[in-house]
Amino acid sequence: MALVAVLLSLGLATASFARSGPTAEQLITAIENAFGITPGQRRNHIKGTCATGVFVANGNGARFSRSPLFSGRAVPVVARFSLAGGKPKAPDTTRNPRGLGLQFQLSGEQPLNMAMISTPVFGAATPRTFHDNMIALAPDPATGKPNPEAVKAFRASHPDNQAQSAFLATNNPPVSYATSSYYSLHAFRFINRANRSTLVRWQFVPHDGEQRLTAEALASGPANFLEQRLLERTKQGPVKWDLVLTLGRPGDVENDPSVAWPEDRTRVTVGTLTLTAATPQADGSCGAVVFDPLVLGDGIQPTDDPVLQARSEVYGLSYARRSAESSAVR
Ligand code: HEM
Repeated sequence: MALVAVLLSLGLATASFARSGPTAEQLITAIENAFGITPGQRRNHIKGTCATGVFVANGNGARFSRSPLFSGRAVPVVARFSLAGGKPKAPDTTRNPRGLGLQFQLSGEQPLNMAMISTPVFGAATPRTFHDNMIALAPDPATGKPNPEAVKAFRASHPDNQAQSAFLATNNPPVSYATSSYYSLHAFRFINRANRSTLVRWQFVPHDGEQRLTAEALASGPANFLEQRLLERTKQGPVKWDLVLTLGRPGDVENDPSVAWPEDRTRVTVGTLTLTAATPQADGSCGAVVFDPLVLGDGIQPTDDPVLQARSEVYGLSYARRSAESSAVR
C-alpha cells in the first residue's frame, strides 16, 4: 500500500500496476506465444475485412445518452469484421467468436469506438483468466499444437470461461458476418442531458437474421468464405443491424462480461447501422484503426469492468508493435 502511494505520488503507478492483474506487456506476450507473430498485423483478430456505412439513430437513445451518436443525424462509420485469434490462416469454420469493430465519425468530435463479439458472454471475468487461457493455448514444442491437458486444466480452474465455451460448443459459427449479432458484453453507463445515468449493455441485431453453419457445412466448409460472402452481400445491397440497448436494473452485474443479465430486462431499439461497401483489409480503410473501446466521448462512460479497463492499453501496444513492423498496417 505504502509503495503504491509512493509510486502514485511520483506518477509512476501505471493503470496495469494498480490493477494488479497481468500487465499489457504480459497479455500481448502471452497472445504472441499462443498464436505467433505476423509482422505488421494485429496480435488478435488478425483475419478481418473492412466495411463502411452509416449509423442513424431513431430518437429513442437520447433519453438515455447525450452522445451525438443519438442525435438522429447520419454518422459515418468505419467497420472491421474479424475472426478472433491471431493465426492468419485459421479456417473460417473455427468455433471462435467473430468480431465487429465500429468507429463512428462524430462531426467535430473525437470518434466513438465499439469493439464487440458474436457471443453473448465473454470467456473471462478478468484479464488474468484471458492471460491464463493464452498460456494454455501456447503450442507444445513436441506437437506444435496446444497441449490438451493444459487446456483441460485451464477450463477446470477457470469457471468464468465456461459460459462462453458452452455457447461456442452448442452454437455453430455464423454463415456470414452479416448473419450474426454482435454484443458489447461489457456494461457501460449512458449519461443523458439531465446527467441521469443508466447501466446499459447492447447488441447489434442483424436484419439478415441469425443464420449458423449446418453440421455438414461446418465439416466441409472452405477455409476462407467470410470475406467473400461479405463482399458479395454488400454488392447486393445495404446490410443492416439494429442497435438494441438492454437496460440494467439495480443489482445487475456491472463489472463482469462473463455473466449474462437475466432475459427479462427491458430492451430498446435506438437506431440502425447500414453498411454499403466492403473491402479486403489490405486495401481498406480499417487496417490502421485501433478500435479502442474506451474512446467513447461525452454521454457514454465505461464501468470499472477490469477486462474493459485492460483493453485500451493492450490494443495500443498491439498497434505500436504492428506499426513498428510495417508502414502498411493491416
Ligand atoms: C483482457 C481481454 C482482452 C485482450 C487482452 C484483448 C486483446 C486484443 C488485441 C491485442 C487485439 C488487437 C488490437 C489491434 O492490434 O488493434 C484485439 C482486437 C479485438 N478485440 Fe480484444 N481483447 C480482450 C477482450 C475483448 C473483448 C471483451 C471483446 C469484445 C467485447 C474483444 C473484441 C475485440 C475485437 C472485435 C477486436 C478486433 C478489433 C479490430 O478489428 O481491430 N476483445 N483484442
